[in-house]
Amino acid sequence: MKIAVLPGDGIGPEIVAEAVKVLQRLQAIHGLRFELEYADVGGTAYTNHGHPLPEATLRLAQAADAVLFGSVGDPRYDNLERALRPEQAILGLRKNLGLFANLRPALLYAELADASSLKPEVVAGLDILIVRELTGDIYFGQPRGRRTAPDGAFAGAPEAFDTMRYSRPEIERIAHVAFQAARTRRAAGHAGRVTSVDKANVLETFQFWKDVVTEVHKDYPDITLEHMYVDNAAMQLVRAPKKFDVIVTGNMFGDILSDEASMLTGSIGMLPSASLNAEQRGLYEPSHGSAPDIAGRGIANPLATILSAAMMLRYSLGQDAAAARVETAVQQVLRDGLRTADIAQPGAATVGTAAMGDAVVAALD
Ligand code: IPM
Ligand code: MG
Repeated sequence: MKIAVLPGDGIGPEIVAEAVKVLQRLQAIHGLRFELEYADVGGTAYTNHGHPLPEATLRLAQAADAVLFGSVGDPRYDNLERALRPEQAILGLRKNLGLFANLRPALLYAELADASSLKPEVVAGLDILIVRELTGDIYFGQPRGRRTAPDGAFAGAPEAFDTMRYSRPEIERIAHVAFQAARTRRAAGHAGRVTSVDKANVLETFQFWKDVVTEVHKDYPDITLEHMYVDNAAMQLVRAPKKFDVIVTGNMFGDILSDEASMLTGSIGMLPSASLNAEQRGLYEPSHGSAPDIAGRGIANPLATILSAAMMLRYSLGQDAAAARVETAVQQVLRDGLRTADIAQPGAATVGTAAMGDAVVAALD
């Protein structure tokens, strides 16, 4: 099993190192063989090779069975032209690998109910899945740019624009992913409900989205479909998050709502994500960013990345038993009381990144 390891910027290298420790221990326990190949990505790649997504990194990712990704982004690169900024690396990987389906679970570990800023009874037992479309919408729509004033009336450009766009096949395939996920979750006791989030009251793109999702739903009579406007969804997520089961939405709304949902659980440092293409090959990354403010201090929470490696084992490498072992080990260290700073109660003892990783490795046995 070939895994491309792309640690990236900020805390990326620290947290990825802990996930790699976990994978290495799993080789021994489950008799697996992982071939790990590393490459630069993001600001690090720009500094070393002049581009955030060098040819060699892209080729490595394309040849791998799965990609384990840390994070990209650093304020040092904010003044570069857009095409060279670190964020272009992850957008380029998504587009080039066709990673259209982004699965972002928001799961509350019972041990961390106090870490949420919401009342424990609002979030206790929370287990929802956000399915975000990842290669369309206003993120990639053309044309985009700045218009220059023909008469030079403005010193700079007088306006800028992006294009929101979705094609029928793009909506159909992400809707299928959401309905199938709801079906799988239903078998495990969830409600069997998909909430499609749109802005059909204002945007033509999202009236179309709503219509196409409704058509695809005809194939899934066992699943309930509801439609919700994005502003209402943002409100319901903090009011009564447990009413959701699977949320499916476009690229930009999914970006925003998944950050909101992740915080319901108390720490974005706990949440993994998978970005899959039509062949179930995927890129796995924590839902959080590069956290440049704490980079290099050895205090970042590696659990989201370790849990992303578990998703990788399950979805792209077909290793369900190894995936479940990782998830159980994470639960075990939380039960044992280990906390990185982001999930600790004020004044309580904390452990660093490496100690947390070591504890998970020990719990694997
Ligand atoms: C995310 C991030 C990215 C996005 C950025 C870094 C391009 O916020 O993965 O949610 O907007 O998709
Ligand atoms: Mg985001």
